[in-house]
Amino acid sequence: MNYTVKMMQEAAEYIKSQISIQPEVGLILGSGLGVLGDDVENAVRIPYQDIPHFPLSTVVGHAGQLVIGTLKGRPVMVMQGRFHFYEGYSMQVIGFPVRVMKLLGIESMIVTNAAGGCNPKFNPGDLMIITDHIKFFDESPLRGPNIDEFGPRFNDMSEPYTKKLGDLAIRVAKKLGFSLRKGIYAHMAGPSFETPAEIRMLQVLGADAVGMSTVPEVISAVHSGMKVLGISCITNMAAGILDQPLNHEEVLETGAMVRDTFASLIKGVLAEWDDIVVYSMNHERKKQESS
Ligand code: HPA
Repeated sequence: MNYTVKMMQEAAEYIKSQISIQPEVGLILGSGLGVLGDDVENAVRIPYQDIPHFPLSTVVGHAGQLVIGTLKGRPVMVMQGRFHFYEGYSMQVIGFPVRVMKLLGIESMIVTNAAGGCNPKFNPGDLMIITDHIKFFDESPLRGPNIDEFGPRFNDMSEPYTKKLGDLAIRVAKKLGFSLRKGIYAHMAGPSFETPAEIRMLQVLGADAVGMSTVPEVISAVHSGMKVLGISCITNMAAGILDQPLNHEEVLETGAMVRDTFASLIKGVLAEWDDIVVYSMNHERKKQESS
């Protein structure tokens, strides 16, 4: 699938025609956290299948929907249902909704995921601010003709996760009475969990956590100049670290255990996503544009 700007504009125009607010923050939520979409106030829900060219989720019974409204007073657009490479989507398809967000005027994104802990100091249930990522040589969502309207052919990835937003999350967690880990997220294609040898390789390369999502969306967001806050929930220790097999049930169980803490963190961050953050971002952008 080669998406054109026109296709993205058609998707954005349709969404615009259904809403009366300007969403500021896009949320893409990992396994178990999608429920945050149910807390959105004055919500407009748009099924993916109604949006021109929008991909559909392969999860039976959940085609996926956008939820647009406010969370803690901040106008947001939540993707309930996300797309993974292991489901058979191309990276370009996974990046499509992020580009549609950008066309809707959304300048920042919060992305969360479930991840295996590679750092032996971590424990299941830890939440980790993603400071950087490692992606191997599989397809990029930007492969193919560059769409100059979004960003340059060779885009800068020197601060893929906006430090100011990570710092804000750390401050909010402290206020709420817990601490966050910080670390590097490695993207693996899945759907198999990694082998112990692969995890040892990732540790040597400096990865603290490993998962099968997030990176394609982040590359698309950064290409179009969006600011990103990424948070992993360490749902299990990665393969070979403990003498026990991995399974998806453990991922879901740990995810469910920390769901409320995770949700309070995201809401707290949105509540404090104050004008200072927005102002300093606009200020930085203007500085870059005029230099
Ligand atoms: N590996 C990859 N993806 C994951 C894991 C893991 O151990 N846990 C949750 N998502």
